[in-house]
Parts: sequence; structure tokens; C-alpha cells
Amino acid sequence: MAACWTQSGAIALACGRGLASFARREARALGYEVVRDDESSVEIHGTLRDAMRLNLWLRTAHRVLVPVARAEAKTIDHLFKHAAAVPWEEWLSPDSFFTVHGVVHNDTIRDTRLPMLRVKDAIADRLREVHGRRPDSGAGWHGASVFILWRERDLRLFIDTTGEPLSRRGYRQWPGAAPMQETLAAACVMASGWDWHAPFVVPMCGSGTPAIEAALIARHRAPSLRRDRFAFMALAGFDDPAGPDGSPADWWRAERTAAVAAERPDADVPPIIASDSSAEAVRHAHENARLAGVEGDIRFSVCDFTATPQPPGRGMVFLNPAYGERLGDVEALAPLYRRIGSFFKGLTDYRGAVLTASPRLAREIGLRAGKQFPFYNGPLECRLLVFYKT
Ligand SMILES: C[S@@+](CC[C@H](N)C(=O)[O-])C[C@H]1O[C@@H](n2cnc3c(N)ncnc32)[C@H](O)[C@@H]1O
Repeated sequence: MAACWTQSGAIALACGRGLASFARREARALGYEVVRDDESSVEIHGTLRDAMRLNLWLRTAHRVLVPVARAEAKTIDHLFKHAAAVPWEEWLSPDSFFTVHGVVHNDTIRDTRLPMLRVKDAIADRLREVHGRRPDSGAGWHGASVFILWRERDLRLFIDTTGEPLSRRGYRQWPGAAPMQETLAAACVMASGWDWHAPFVVPMCGSGTPAIEAALIARHRAPSLRRDRFAFMALAGFDDPAGPDGSPADWWRAERTAAVAAERPDADVPPIIASDSSAEAVRHAHENARLAGVEGDIRFSVCDFTATPQPPGRGMVFLNPAYGERLGDVEALAPLYRRIGSFFKGLTDYRGAVLTASPRLAREIGLRAGKQFPFYNGPLECRLLVFYKT
């Protein structure tokens, strides 16, 4: 079996800004001890089999990375030297395709494509030396993946076991007008304080992302179960003939089978309601839910948010209204936010939560949030406001 599959070491969970505390919570719930974390990553220890499991189960992280080098690099020549010293042959096969991508903030680099090209050259040279031939490389997520994080002089190189980010679960074929990333939607559901036994109601559902993520959580479904491609599948030895514990491909099949067996039965899934005043949005949300395999867990309707059915008992209402990027839009949206405030005041057993990027519009709700979570919807700073006593 290729060496990379038997080694144990650090694994970094890369997250969008504001999401690391949720990825940390998830890693712990999966049984991992968190070694350290910061605003955008969480570090644990494990093997590539753990990396497979994390790729399958994490809802709020973007990538599962295995660090292979950390060094001081001032210039592009230093970068090349450090990249050439990594034993890439332990990870990459000369017969597979690989891509190099990353984040570079270094004063000496004007074109951030250059570091990717130089690392690609270093890998190709090294594999040609070891095997007499080199793998193909280029853009795309269909092969192995190498990730560079180069901030000033701090250079870090990783094997990226994920490839296409985990935020792209694959179900959102109909994005709608202003969709939120799947990872952010999952974090909002978690941060709202909803316990998955109670109803979860999503008026203004748009393309359905928060309702679908809530359904995946309520079902205890691994969020990436329906994805058929991860970068770890292109690492050296993934399909090697089985050893006593099987091949890595066998382990992956076993992880998926265990995930399916861990799903909750229909009777345990609480009502999840999604509505929107746009019939087209509801149609798209419905189609996305079908692709996510949770169509039967969500009840859809076309109506004003105030008319969304609320099953009796305790529950959570989550709203993601438009927030207006221009001043005129903000003025036009103020009455909608005031209506949200009145609607929340009328709730008796339900709690309310709102994700918005506009502090000005948030004030129009006219209620004091019990908790606030700073998030980013793409580059845009936003806040999840949770109202406990409405
Ligand atoms: C920002 S989008 C929601 C995006 C959603 N979170 C997603 O990921 O696709 C806001 C949605 O609110 C809906 N909406 C606006 N006013 C509404 C109202 N009064 N009642 C119900 N839905 C409304 C719009 O049709 C739109 O789909």
C-alpha cells in the first residue's frame, strides 16, 4: 500500500471566514480532538482514512488538507526549492492528473499564477526523476490537488484531499437570484440554536439552501454522500489491490455504507417548511431538494412569509431577506424588515433568526437580538441575528 495511506499526522480543515468555530464543533462531534484553530482553519490529527470521513461528513468546512511542508520563502526561487524537496512521489502517481491552486499574499509576486506554475514544475520534475515520466497537470477538479498557502514569508504546502470545495454539494443546479453557500447555510442552521427535533420553518427560501441543509441535518445525512468525486480518489494507491484491511477504495465504500446506515428514519425527521412569494423560487427549491434527496422531508408553499404554515409546538423560523446593495434599495426594503419585526413579535412558541448584511435594515426589525454571529456571504460581511424572546 502506498505510504501516504498508512501515515498519521496533522489534518487542516479549511473554512470560510467566520465558520471555523462550527467546523471545530463538527470535528469534535465526529470524535476528533482539535489541536489548534484560528479564524479560518481547524487542525486535528489523523490518517487519509480520517480525511475521507471528514470529506463525507463536514457541513461547514471547505477543504480537508494534509500539510506536507512549511518553510520560510521570500522569493519564487525559495518557493521552488522548498516544493522540490517534498517527496511528492509518496502522494501522487505519475499516471494521474493533478492541479495546483492556492492563496498567495507575497510582495514579490505580481501574478499569483506564477507560484502555482512553479510548484507544478517542481512536482513534475520530481516525479520524472523518480518514475521516468510525469503526470498531466492543469485546471479542473477531476484529479489530485495540491494547495499552496503563501502569506508573506510563510509558505505552506498541502495535499488537498477535497478538490472541488465541500460547499458545492452538487444539489444546487438552480441557484436562484441570491443563493447563500451551502456551508454558510449549514452554519446558520447550527448557530440558530435549532435542535433538530422541532420544526424548522424557512419563509423566503429562495433556492432552498437553508431548508435543504436543515433537512440534511435532521436526517443525519452525510452532506457529501451524493458527491462522486474527491481529490483523494486520485492519490497514489487509492485503487491498489486489497491488503488485509482492503484497499483505500474499499475503505471509502465502507465509509459511505456506514453513513447510509447512520441516517435517521422518516419518523424521526421533524417538519421542515419552505416557502417564498415567488413561485419560480419555490419550483427551483423543490428541484434542488430532489437532487439533494430530501424532497420528501420538506413541505413547500408559495405565499407571503407571514402566511407560511407553522406546525404547532416549539420551532425555529429562519429568514434570509434581500438586504439591498444600493442606498435606494435599502430604503425600499425598510418596510419589509419592519414587517419581519411585527411577525416575530407575534410568534409565541417559535424563535426567529435573520441573516442580513445590512445593519441599517437589521435595526428596522425593532427587536434586540439575543445572539449575533458574524459571517461572510462571499466577500460581504453579514450577521445572523437570533431573537430568543420575540
Ligand atoms: C436573498 S433571497 C433568499 C436566498 C436563499 N437564502 C438561497 O440560498 O437561495 C430572498 C428571497 O425572499 C423572497 N421574498 C421577498 N419578499 C418576500 C415576502 N414578502 N414573502 C415571501 N418571500 C419573499 C424572494 O422571492 C427571494 O427568493
